[in-house]
Amino acid sequence: MKHIVIVTILSGLLGCTSAMQAAETKNIRISTKHTDLVLQVAENGRLYQVYFGDKLRHESDLDNFSWQVHAASDGSVVPRGWEVYSGSGNEEFFEPALAVTHADGNPSTYLYYVSSDTRQIEGGTQTDIVLRDNAYPLEVTIHYVAYTEEDVFKTWTEIRHEEKKPVYLSAYASTMLYFSASNYYLTEFSSDWAKEAQMSTQPLRPGKKILDTKLGSRAAMHMHPFFILGLDQPVSEHQGQVLLGTIGWTGNFRFTFEVDNVGNLRVISAINPYASRYELKREQTFTTPEFIFTLSNNGVGQGSRNLQNWARHYQLKDGMKPRMTLLNNWENTGFNFNQDILAELMVEAKDLGVDMFLLDDGWFGNKYPRKNDHAGLGDWEVTHEKLPGGIPALTEAAKKAGVKFGLWIEPEMVNPKSELFEKHPDWAIHYPNRDVYYYRNQLVLDLSNPEVQNYVYEVVDKLLKENPEIAYFKWDCNSPITNIYSPYLKERQGQLYIDHVRGIYHVLERIKENHPNIPMMLCSGGGARCDYEALKYFTEFWCSDDTDPVERLYIQWGFSHIFPAKAMCAHVTSWNKSASIKFRTDVASMCKLGFDIGLKELSAEELEYCRHAVNNWKQLQSAIMDGTQYRLVSPYECNHMAVNYVSLDRKTAVLFAYDIHPRYQEKLLPVKLEGLDPDMMYRVEEINLMPGKSSSLQLDGKTVSGDYLMKVGVKAFSSNDMQSCVVRLVAQ
Ligand code: DGJ
Repeated sequence: MKHIVIVTILSGLLGCTSAMQAAETKNIRISTKHTDLVLQVAENGRLYQVYFGDKLRHESDLDNFSWQVHAASDGSVVPRGWEVYSGSGNEEFFEPALAVTHADGNPSTYLYYVSSDTRQIEGGTQTDIVLRDNAYPLEVTIHYVAYTEEDVFKTWTEIRHEEKKPVYLSAYASTMLYFSASNYYLTEFSSDWAKEAQMSTQPLRPGKKILDTKLGSRAAMHMHPFFILGLDQPVSEHQGQVLLGTIGWTGNFRFTFEVDNVGNLRVISAINPYASRYELKREQTFTTPEFIFTLSNNGVGQGSRNLQNWARHYQLKDGMKPRMTLLNNWENTGFNFNQDILAELMVEAKDLGVDMFLLDDGWFGNKYPRKNDHAGLGDWEVTHEKLPGGIPALTEAAKKAGVKFGLWIEPEMVNPKSELFEKHPDWAIHYPNRDVYYYRNQLVLDLSNPEVQNYVYEVVDKLLKENPEIAYFKWDCNSPITNIYSPYLKERQGQLYIDHVRGIYHVLERIKENHPNIPMMLCSGGGARCDYEALKYFTEFWCSDDTDPVERLYIQWGFSHIFPAKAMCAHVTSWNKSASIKFRTDVASMCKLGFDIGLKELSAEELEYCRHAVNNWKQLQSAIMDGTQYRLVSPYECNHMAVNYVSLDRKTAVLFAYDIHPRYQEKLLPVKLEGLDPDMMYRVEEINLMPGKSSSLQLDGKTVSGDYLMKVGVKAFSSNDMQSCVVRLVAQ
């Protein structure tokens, strides 16, 4: 049914009021294979969400939707709905998506539908919807990309105006989504150094729950920019409706979950407006970050697979290309190395069978050499005394050893003890009139300043131009923004948190443009940077400095909800030596495998085991890196953990099973695999065994159907502390 109504809106060029304009109700359907998001332009000319859920079978049913969903507590229906991009100061009493103070001081915004357009793009459709205020020349364009096969949506918004003077933005959401369910359960991912991706769940009650950070850079140190929402019931792996959402923003973010007076839930995903009243000049466009989300009707496992698959295809840098295994030196040598030590490590890397040697922190600075974390950041020249042959000698040594060479940098930072700070103190973010406080003895460079952006770009560009043999960067960021004042922005300090992050993106964009083939690891004092905007520029991220394999089981389990294994770096180190080298390596083998350990401290047998494990991992890349992941047994629910990966053609699979601290005489259940072809016959083989050890797995060496493996399972758990079992399945 269509209604024709008359509303007054501004049309044509911003700023000129047109005559009365006709608007008719209209549904805008944004679909993936299994999900529909339906928006409705109502009789009043405004845009409302009328449906978000399981895909509808009949187009004609769209006519049954009504935007008026909001009952008043006295039972009467008030003409109010779920406005898609609710403005501040309107008749809505809850948290708005957009808050604008117009040039004349008016704090209200009413957005009316102007137009929409849907077109095919790679992998799906893009819908752009233009809304405009009816009293001020302010326009909002909401973009939705729907990835059909992966069931993933991403949405972002552009805000623009033609008022005579600047307007001030104090809320600028990427999106606002509404839900009506009997109950809501929020799973969040809290974090700290060495404690990343810790999952906890709580029911949402009337009022607001906020997940946010105010750290500036190293921004996800205390809370990660993603969440899972269980509708009606708590999030579970295999069943129930769940939303997985994540914001692509490498700075302060804020998710607001508000259960309103009638028990509906509003979810607002945004840059955190904390200390960020943004001045928007006439004709300038404010673009929000992308909010990426998927709705699964089969539990969170399916939702994770949607995101992992989507990320590899459309978001992660080089998502479809292979990854390099590596040997890093940070946990082994710290700052104490020289050319000979490094050259020796490169030979060891080759002997281990990894692809690359990665030189970590401590190679730069001359006036203030980087002997510890007190000096040198900013001075990206090799310390001549320590490495007299410079980087060329190192790349040469790597070539001779037969491995690639990667390099650690932290180019967004400066130590006050550096030549850079002596030359450009005003490039560092710090107060002009207060005592400076430091985090890890360093300051954050002011990336809102284009000159500083240029400097940071040139650090990378120069290194690569002078040393084209550098095959990889580990890009670190160890400090949050402290002393939050930009000497460059002066009276526009409200822009700092936001323009700083945009400045980082400018730099990364230039690097990607001019050096498109350099893989980079995103690192931030562990895993404090883990978002999908940064991952457009980085091939992978460092999950945590905590490489104790038991802790890693939880950390990797947490991150796997949002990211593919291909994006997650895991290294074998000496953390928790009471765990065997096999257990440590098997845990790291679930992600992008690397080592950061003194190989000399390993016995001949252990080293041989590691070589085999590296080789096995390389052969299983089609499953672990590019296949489909199934989380089978959660470490949060018992004393074990298991996942399996299946290659896309379902011909190769691998099961990882771990015993953490089993109880005395604990009942051990077989692990039922998922994702196999039930009619395919698989040869079962336990791999990653210590030299001389044979498998005690009942099915080892047998050929079994996928059906059996999924219905009956594999007895892969044991009663022993920190034991692991890796099983390869190859179709016959
Ligand atoms: C923090 C990182 O997480 C570590 O891996 C290491 O690179 C250090 N920084 C170096 O300072």
